[in-house]
Amino acid sequence: MASKIRNIAVLTSGGDAPGMNACIRAVVRAAIYHGITPYGVYDGFNGLINNDIKELGYFDVSNILQNGGTILATARCKEFHDVAFREKAHQNLKDRNIDALITIGGDGTFMGARIFSKEFGYPVIGIPGTIDNDINGTDYSIGFDTALNTIINSVDNIRDTAASHHRIFLVEVMGNNSGVLALYAAAASGAREVFMPEKKEDLNEIRDKVKQAIDANRSSIIIVSEGDEVGGAKELYKFLASHHMEEKIRVSVLGHIQRGGRPTFRDRLNATLFGEKAVTALLKGSSNVMVGIQNGELCLNDILVSQEAKPIQNMDYLKLIRKLSVY
Ligand code: F6P
Repeated sequence: MASKIRNIAVLTSGGDAPGMNACIRAVVRAAIYHGITPYGVYDGFNGLINNDIKELGYFDVSNILQNGGTILATARCKEFHDVAFREKAHQNLKDRNIDALITIGGDGTFMGARIFSKEFGYPVIGIPGTIDNDINGTDYSIGFDTALNTIINSVDNIRDTAASHHRIFLVEVMGNNSGVLALYAAAASGAREVFMPEKKEDLNEIRDKVKQAIDANRSSIIIVSEGDEVGGAKELYKFLASHHMEEKIRVSVLGHIQRGGRPTFRDRLNATLFGEKAVTALLKGSSNVMVGIQNGELCLNDILVSQEAKPIQNMDYLKLIRKLSVY
């Protein structure tokens, strides 16, 4: 049966992530290939409410694939929690004869998309886009790989100072409530320890490890996830300072440097695959699903799956980090 979908809209929502532009490009180009008119919605769900929607042509998405951020801009939209605003958003889509929506973002975005889809029986497909990689139903979200590369490159730079001054650096990374960025970055950057929300921290153990490095006049990198129970790198510093170690310790909070920059090969490719898959899935009649990649295969999962807490794959990296950091 031929698809009834003639016009689709795409938006980015939540924190920006490198690769979102590659995904927008793939959605637009795949739509055009299938004879569908693509529309871009600006500033996430705000654009639906405020009718900030524009038709996107083939050349509107030229030369964007390689850039970080999102040409559609993004936001976290509080109003979308309110049904009256969702009704307005729905009306704006209807007025333009837009039949389906693709949302690129994190779990908050997916939750909004799901409610909207159920409320109005409106076809919606979610594409995972967040550096946090905390969305269940996919092994990778767009931006995760680039953020990891940014972190390890930053740690490489920090190591120059750490080694030259025999210092211990507490490097704080993003991740919201997930420690996956911290764990993977720690394993790949040769960190001596990692602090992350998924494990119980032993402050005495870290105190002894840091003291050992100071006594040996050696440098060390400790990666601290922003969501860790200790309260981040600055709090860990305060604890170590209370044990008179502050002279040799420095804190580096990487912050939003982790969200920007040119996407890596993996993020560009995944974003492109996800965008095309979302369009073809809509044409085949899918709705309320998210696109993902699991065990190297593209997949579609119920969007509800994205709301479950995502267990960390490769928690074993923790043992590896520790095994390789015994003096
Ligand atoms: O969800 C992505 C993320 O970068 C988290 O890692 C971080 O906690 C949060 O967004 C920061 O959000 P913002 O600075 O955009 O408010």
